[in-house]
Amino acid sequence: MRFDSLLTLSLMGLGVLVGCAEHTGLFNAPYGRFQNPQSRHRLPRRVSRLLRKGALPARSSSVLTYAIALALALVMYSEHGSWGSPYHVMTGLFLFGQYGKRLLESRYVHWYSGEVSYAMALYMVLANLGIMAICIHSIFHRPPAPSENTYPALIWCLPLMMVAWAGNLYHHYILRSLRTGDGDRTYAVPRRGWFLRAICPHYFFEVLAWLSFALLVNRRAVYGVLFLIAAKLAGRSHQTRDWSWRHLDGYPRDVKRMVPFLY
Ligand SMILES: NC(=O)c1ccc[n+]([C@@H]2O[C@H](COP(=O)([O-])OP(=O)(O)OC[C@H]3O[C@@H](n4cnc5c(N)ncnc54)[C@H](OP(=O)(O)O)[C@@H]3O)[C@@H](O)[C@H]2O)c1
Repeated sequence: MRFDSLLTLSLMGLGVLVGCAEHTGLFNAPYGRFQNPQSRHRLPRRVSRLLRKGALPARSSSVLTYAIALALALVMYSEHGSWGSPYHVMTGLFLFGQYGKRLLESRYVHWYSGEVSYAMALYMVLANLGIMAICIHSIFHRPPAPSENTYPALIWCLPLMMVAWAGNLYHHYILRSLRTGDGDRTYAVPRRGWFLRAICPHYFFEVLAWLSFALLVNRRAVYGVLFLIAAKLAGRSHQTRDWSWRHLDGYPRDVKRMVPFLY
C-alpha cells in the first residue's frame, strides 16, 4: 500500500478514536472547561497525575504551539516553495493565514481561565506540528499537475476560506465579550451570532476553513487531516453542550452542537 494511502487511513482511524473519546467523555483533552481530567471518568492515578503535572499559562502554551508550527512552515516554504507556482502561493496563503490567525487570536482575542499542564502543552505542540508536517509533505511531495497549478483553478477556494476565517473570528470575539480578562473563570451563556442555534459554531467555521484547504491541496492525506479535525471537534462539541447544560443555568435546550439545525 502506498505511503499516502496508509497515512490517510491512519489519520481517519485516529479521527475515529479521538472523536469517540471526546464524544463519550472518555478522554476530553484537558484544557479549558475540561481541565480536570477526572471530571467525568476515572483515569488510572498515574496517568491522571501526569496529565496534571506542571502549569503553563494557557495563552503562552497556545502562542508557543502556533509559533512552532509556523516556524516549520516558514523553513519548508523558503526551502521548497516557489513564488512562481500558484499552487504553492495559495496553499502557503492558507497555512500562514490559518496559523498566523490562531497565533494572533491566542495572543490578543481569547481570555483564558487558567493554565494547562506540561503534558497538554506538549500534546498541543506535537499535534499541530504533526498536522503541519503532513500538510507540507502533501504539498511538496508530488508536484502539482499543470491543470492544478493556475490561479483560475485555485482562486475559487478563497471566498470559502475568508467566510470560514471571518465566522470563526467573529464567534471568538463573542466568547471574549463574556469575560473581563485572563483568569476570569466564569462561563456565561453567549447570546449572539450562531451561538443562538449551536454551542460551538466557531468549530463549524474551523472545519469549513480546513475543508477549503483540503479542496485546494486536493491530496488524500489532507482529506485525512480534515476528517481528524472534524471528528475531534464534533466529539468535543457534544461534551461541551453536555457540560453547559449541566453547569450553566438557563442554557437553551434546543441548541445544536456545531451546525445550526443539523448537528
Ligand atoms: N484545528 C484543530 O484541530 C483545533 C482544535 C481545537 C481548537 N481549534 C481552534 O481553536 C479555537 C478555540 O478552541 P477551543 O477548543 O479552545 O474553544 P473553546 O473551548 O470554546 O474556548 C475558546 C475561548 O473562549 C473561552 N470560552 C469558551 N466558552 C466560554 C463561555 N461559555 N464563557 C466564557 N468564555 C468561554 C475559552 O476559555 P477557557 O479556555 O478558559 O475555557 C477560550 O478562551 C477553535 O475555534 C478553533 O478555531 C482548532
